[in-house]
Amino acid sequence: MKLTLKIWRQANAEAPGKMVTYPIDAVSPDMSFLEMMDVLNEQLIQKGEDPVAFDHDCREGICGMCSMFINGEAHGPDRLVTTCQLHMRKFKDGDTITIEPFRANAFPVIKDLVVDRSAFDRVQQAGGFVSVNTSGNTQDANPIPIDKHDADRAFDAATCIGCGACVATCKNASAMLFVSAKVSQYALLPQGKVEATDRVLNMVKQMDSEGFGNCTNTGACEVECPKGISLENIARMNREYLAASLKG
Ligand code: SF4
Ligand code: FES
Repeated sequence: MKLTLKIWRQANAEAPGKMVTYPIDAVSPDMSFLEMMDVLNEQLIQKGEDPVAFDHDCREGICGMCSMFINGEAHGPDRLVTTCQLHMRKFKDGDTITIEPFRANAFPVIKDLVVDRSAFDRVQQAGGFVSVNTSGNTQDANPIPIDKHDADRAFDAATCIGCGACVATCKNASAMLFVSAKVSQYALLPQGKVEATDRVLNMVKQMDSEGFGNCTNTGACEVECPKGISLENIARMNREYLAASLKG
């Protein structure tokens, strides 16, 4: 396949960025999107040019690093896949592909397609954990029975990989889907109920202080989420937040 790539190039956080056009050929339909980017970068390096910076780690859909906005969609045109799981067979010979970083005020660009998503880490640090008594009297988790339905829903919420596609897709750059997944994975389990009040209040406070926008229920986040995280989690977080606020 022969393709034309239009890629956002930005030297650093302060520099102005711009779209730069790169023709590329000999792209196999069986390549992953990141393998295609590797080919481009090899060509740029051989020509003495600066390769395109992009994030990646696992290349199997579990680390959430490969944040790219491809033809106007987070992680590209396929559903329920990350950019590293997207294959070039989703495109046609002769296509022009536009590649941009995930854009949000809370995700500043570091270089080219790499953005700083440490805001998500700080939201997690505000409450995305269960405190454990390590004095030697810790109860084994297995003696606490958990309803299968709750366990399944908690697991579904826990599959969020923190990629940020929900934020990049939302016209308000809201992080509600991410934060609600993290709140839900604990709120549904008995182990998470002990700190539930502080958790939801602190995580939402941190989310707001990071500059994410408000949720206006467009549902775009759910459509573009590579892990199929459900809007149901946002409704659950709102209920948790209301209950916690009333408790004071
Ligand atoms: S909710 Fe989905 S889109 Fe948002 S960070 Fe988690 S996995 Fe990514
Ligand atoms: S590189 Fe890990 S999810 Fe894509």
